[in-house]
Amino acid sequence: MKQLECPFCKKTYALDLFQLFCSDCQEPLLVRSSVPFPKVRNEKSNPLDKYIDFLPIKKALHRFSLGEGNTPLLKLNRLMHKFNVPDLYAKNEMMNPTGSFKDRGTVIAVHNAVSLGIRNIGTVSTGNMAVSTAAYGARTGIKTYVLVSEDTSDEKIFSAALHGAILVKVKGDYGELFYKSLETGKKNHVYFINSVDPFRIEGYKVTAFEIWQQLGGQVPTHIFVPVSSGGHIIGLMKAFSELKQNKLTNRLPVFVGIQPKKASPITNAFLNGQSQITRIQKADSFAQSINNPAPPGGNCVLKWIKETNGHLLRVSDEEILKAQKKLASFEGLFGLPAAAAPLAGLFKWQAQNKLAPHHRIVLILTGAGFKNMAVLDRSQMPIYQTVLDDLDQMISQIGKNKEN
Ligand SMILES: Cc1ncc(COP(=O)(O)O)c(C=O)c1O
Ligand SMILES: [Zn+2]
Repeated sequence: MKQLECPFCKKTYALDLFQLFCSDCQEPLLVRSSVPFPKVRNEKSNPLDKYIDFLPIKKALHRFSLGEGNTPLLKLNRLMHKFNVPDLYAKNEMMNPTGSFKDRGTVIAVHNAVSLGIRNIGTVSTGNMAVSTAAYGARTGIKTYVLVSEDTSDEKIFSAALHGAILVKVKGDYGELFYKSLETGKKNHVYFINSVDPFRIEGYKVTAFEIWQQLGGQVPTHIFVPVSSGGHIIGLMKAFSELKQNKLTNRLPVFVGIQPKKASPITNAFLNGQSQITRIQKADSFAQSINNPAPPGGNCVLKWIKETNGHLLRVSDEEILKAQKKLASFEGLFGLPAAAAPLAGLFKWQAQNKLAPHHRIVLILTGAGFKNMAVLDRSQMPIYQTVLDDLDQMISQIGKNKEN
């Protein structure tokens, strides 16, 4: 059976884990959405069992799972009130086992690897995907290679190392490392589960199915997502379009993809009316997990965003930092800069578009903030100090100041 398809020329391909790009268009292949009338199995609580008809796995193997998914959809009442947003939610992907949405994709890719008898997996990443792949590699007992660029800090990769992954720092262009890893994987029989792997992308669909069910079988009007390689947003868009194909909804949400100004090749192409992205020379945003000069899924994101009347926005690092603070201080949600980018995007959107009372907006909070403490502006966080004997007096004084 031809399980894979090019989203551009629609050519179909039999599954070959070492050939995941269209030989004509050079674009990443996707899993064909061919199952007619899949059912949501509401009697099941595990998301892999619940949505199995929509996923490219025959059976959910719970021994490979770390409990990913089933994340809360939180209503952001305080932000709504303060910033005049009619109906606002956060899908809290920081609750996944390794603190990011990547786990949803890794678990499906690992199922696939095991079913095909693969004994070596790998990934190219500077952070979240490295940790996620290493954790699931450990859980499954598969040898895992993590390739990182030379300047990746040890701090970011220590947890991947703790899971027992083989870490290799590679000198050279990080964008090229993506393609080089696939070449190396083919030669050495290592399945590189990179950012736009079609099975990883299938796992991301479950987030969309959960949102739809958490809203009582309704689709939000807008979804704001941070975009780097494009894999995540492609998975979310694919899921809503599968819901529509199967008549489980009659409309799609408006997708708004957010990129940092200093790393926005897809948004640049969108705003300039181009149909192909152009890689940028140097990506220089402090939001490391979305600081990508050459997104491999960029052309597909561009095409699908245009076809569905979605949008792509650029936000500055300062706007991201402010949004990170707002999420944390108004709602108790401490996300990575990448996770705060959707809120920064919403503020920008609000300045340019009028929100209507029926608008229901979901922000995807992709990864937990404690993974990158170095970016916080500590000068904005006063820490009082006192000796034990003066504690009462100090608390009383601070209380009075706060009241004033
Ligand atoms: C926290 C976080 N948010 C967003 C993204 C962007 O996802 P994608 O590369 O699939 O577009 C990443 C990717 O690494 C990430 O780690
Ligand atoms: Zn093609």
